[in-house]
Amino acid sequence: MDTWTELGRATGATGEVVLRRRPDPASGSDLVELVVGGVLVMDDGDASTERLLASAALELLGADGRAAPGGWRVLVGGLGLGFTLAQVLADPRVAEAVVAELEPSVVAWVRQGLVPATAGVLADPRASTVVGDVADALRAAPPASLDAVLLDVDNGPGFLVAPANARLYDDDGLAAAAAVLAPGGVLAVWCSHDPAALADTARAVAGITDVRVLRRVVEREGRELEYWLVVGRRAPADR
Ligand SMILES: C[S@@+](CC[C@H](N)C(=O)[O-])C[C@H]1O[C@@H](n2cnc3c(N)ncnc32)[C@H](O)[C@@H]1O
Repeated sequence: MDTWTELGRATGATGEVVLRRRPDPASGSDLVELVVGGVLVMDDGDASTERLLASAALELLGADGRAAPGGWRVLVGGLGLGFTLAQVLADPRVAEAVVAELEPSVVAWVRQGLVPATAGVLADPRASTVVGDVADALRAAPPASLDAVLLDVDNGPGFLVAPANARLYDDDGLAAAAAVLAPGGVLAVWCSHDPAALADTARAVAGITDVRVLRRVVEREGRELEYWLVVGRRAPADR
């Protein structure tokens, strides 16, 4: 039987939001889980793909020697347990990282340091939070104002916890994300299901080029799970 310790519980935009901890027999240490609307959306057992979302995007961003005056500006959609944001901030080329998170309780819990691996991430002076929908944050951002947009909401486009999030991934949603990117800027999306259709949409959206799909296998509780990232960028100005 699982022995849960509840770290936080709140009613939010997507239903009940719970942060909880339990011993993980596989690792011998504790596992912290975030459950939204009854669905497990993130735990801190293996956050390698959430971190890769950031590092792969920033690698592509810097691939042609790009150096934005004053540093890069990044928008992260979905704070979750804070791993993607922490990886963004691990890159000294990043000057500003804004994270849009729908659930205020999630921001509060990460800020309180309830997730040991990312404790302090929101204290980084380059980090700021917007409590709200990343779709609105994208709409509010001026055109060509960001160097990277990283999306990891719900469990990716193939497993939506909030049906309204489908609008992030359709033609208009990807076009809105592309529009806020400066030339050469990178769009990256974390996916729990094969994102071939999303990659096709990204390619078809004006200006998103170099679209690549990364597949990784992550072991969870003795099972092997496949996760994907879609990473592409707006055409550099000199193309
Ligand atoms: C899978 S978790 C993100 C995991 C994160 N990448 C990490 O490193 O821990 C998804 C997060 O997105 C948030 N979310 C869901 N829909 C959202 C939306 N439309 N805008 C902003 N945040 C959203 C959820 O509340 C949840 O905290």
